[in-house]
Amino acid sequence: MAKLDTTGGVTGDTLFELRYARSRDDLWGMLDRLYGTHPGYPAFRKALDRALKVAWRERADDLKLLDLRRDLEPDWFQRPDMTGYSFYIDRFAGDLEGVVERLDYLKDLGVTYVHFMPCLKPRPGDSDGGYSVMDYRAINPAFGTMEDFEAATAACRMRGISVCVDLVINHTAKEHTWAKKARKGDPTYLDYYLTFPDDTLPMQYEETLLEVFPDNAPGNFTYYEDMGRWVWTTFNEHQWDLNWANPQIFLEMTKVMLFLANRGVEILRLDAVAFIWKRMGTRCQSEPECHMLLQALRAACRIVAPSVIHLEEAIVSPEEMLPYLGRGEHDGKEGNLAYHNSLMVQFWSALAARDTQLMTHVLGTHFPPALTNATYATYLRCHDDIGWAVTDADASAVGLNGPMHRAFLSDFYEGDFAGSFAKGELFQVNPETGDKRISGSCASLCGLEKAIMAGDSAGVDRAIDRILMGHALIASYGGVPLVYMGDEIALLNDYSYHDVADLAHDSRWLHRPRMDWERVSAAQADRGSPEGRVLSGLREIFARRAACLELHARHPTEILHTGNAQLFAFARRAPTGAMVCVFNFAETWTSIPENWAMQQGATRRHDALSDAPAGDGHGAIPLPPYARLWLR
Ligand code: GLC
Repeated sequence: MAKLDTTGGVTGDTLFELRYARSRDDLWGMLDRLYGTHPGYPAFRKALDRALKVAWRERADDLKLLDLRRDLEPDWFQRPDMTGYSFYIDRFAGDLEGVVERLDYLKDLGVTYVHFMPCLKPRPGDSDGGYSVMDYRAINPAFGTMEDFEAATAACRMRGISVCVDLVINHTAKEHTWAKKARKGDPTYLDYYLTFPDDTLPMQYEETLLEVFPDNAPGNFTYYEDMGRWVWTTFNEHQWDLNWANPQIFLEMTKVMLFLANRGVEILRLDAVAFIWKRMGTRCQSEPECHMLLQALRAACRIVAPSVIHLEEAIVSPEEMLPYLGRGEHDGKEGNLAYHNSLMVQFWSALAARDTQLMTHVLGTHFPPALTNATYATYLRCHDDIGWAVTDADASAVGLNGPMHRAFLSDFYEGDFAGSFAKGELFQVNPETGDKRISGSCASLCGLEKAIMAGDSAGVDRAIDRILMGHALIASYGGVPLVYMGDEIALLNDYSYHDVADLAHDSRWLHRPRMDWERVSAAQADRGSPEGRVLSGLREIFARRAACLELHARHPTEILHTGNAQLFAFARRAPTGAMVCVFNFAETWTSIPENWAMQQGATRRHDALSDAPAGDGHGAIPLPPYARLWLR
């Protein structure tokens, strides 16, 4: 058996061997199929085994102890006290040392998981917000050093906060050493990327590929005169897609993954995972090999660093997203978390329409009530735009026209639609498809900016209620709620990016404002101010949530039909009793019959969110504008 010494250190390789045995088939079962016929496969097998052993041996004792704890408590990330917060290090606190100084603020908000937005060394100049990485083993020098990073993860760990960082696995910056060597013609490194001597194949691929950034980076390939080759560049020109059909890429990325795990990272956000496998004649998104690769990466991580979980970023349709949480043969073996893009889109759609029928249909039809070893990352806003991922079929199932509804949502959130409360900007308008994505901060999209500008105090109240309703929704739906930096103090759109040369082409900077610590002080000093109401409201939501065992992510989420088009409702079916969560998506009063709530299992007539009795004593539960109730 593995020995634990009295100071908590772990000695010997026994644990490694046990964990290797546990995950051997999950790992090699995939890699044999993916790479078995590759001439370099036997050497790759040895190199990967060696890399796993080396990473295990250099893993620090306190992290090994965390591994043990989480082997014993594998639901740690599904518990109702898990709340995430995403921020840019520089925009939040200047640098890594600054972040450590702000941890008490986050702790007070109820945060137990922090996502440091891209923090590895990016290319100089425009780096797509840091998603164009030139060195995976160095920290962005503007934020500090690798030592500062390890000090920051340790400080977080001490406070019970898990650190998440991005691992951009689909592409590197063209300034990465691999890319530089490829550019010079080194055949080993040319095989790290997808390059072509002429445009014959690129043109064939283009026939079925989509455009991610049609506005400022049209096309999926770039020609380099000096190389005399076309390079696959799905995103921006400076982001070169890696060739995952080469086992060497799996090996390199596994080493990077474990390197980061050994620096104290507990959640790896695997970026743009849908794009990692290419197949002629397809969109080259979410091909079966993506899931095989992701299962193998997960298995490698479970062998060396089982306390680390994977958040897979795939902003795709519901049917395409679920497999990232492990379906079919990958059940329980792939991502532990994936963004619930549909919940986010449906929140904004129902809010604009004051009608939840589409939301109820989509969430009730496409998503299973529970998942194995996995749950959603629920969110209202993040650093990216909102794309109106509503299919024509789902729209018509509730009597809507897909293209018209999507156009309505863009107009509404841009602020153009008559009577719209929102203020945002368009992102990546695609005249070919008619797609118009939206940028904007949570508060501005919820109506706070317009209401303040108009001096409309009732409008301010409604905007605040929308913000709080949305957060009560993501806190109870099932998953890990992620707060996006500044949303807790209702930060408005930041138009200053228009004046910054490297940023002006990308309207996503509209909702990436600098943290406003004066506004935090104001919010703390005056709980009646808009920012004070939002800050104390969010703190309350997360504190109540932590005490509600029904909200553990393993308990099924059943979408309910209320028969009232302005209400969205679901039940969390815990063995100890149900919690029925009800949300009013309109600015008008309504009610639900007490009987209905009782039938759904809310027999105690108690709202756990306000900790107050629910119901008027005459058979109805009145619901004010934007009400949110967690009925027990
Ligand atoms: C992800 C990121 C996005 C970035 C893209 C390319 O989607 O969230 O911000 O532009 O990947 O790395």
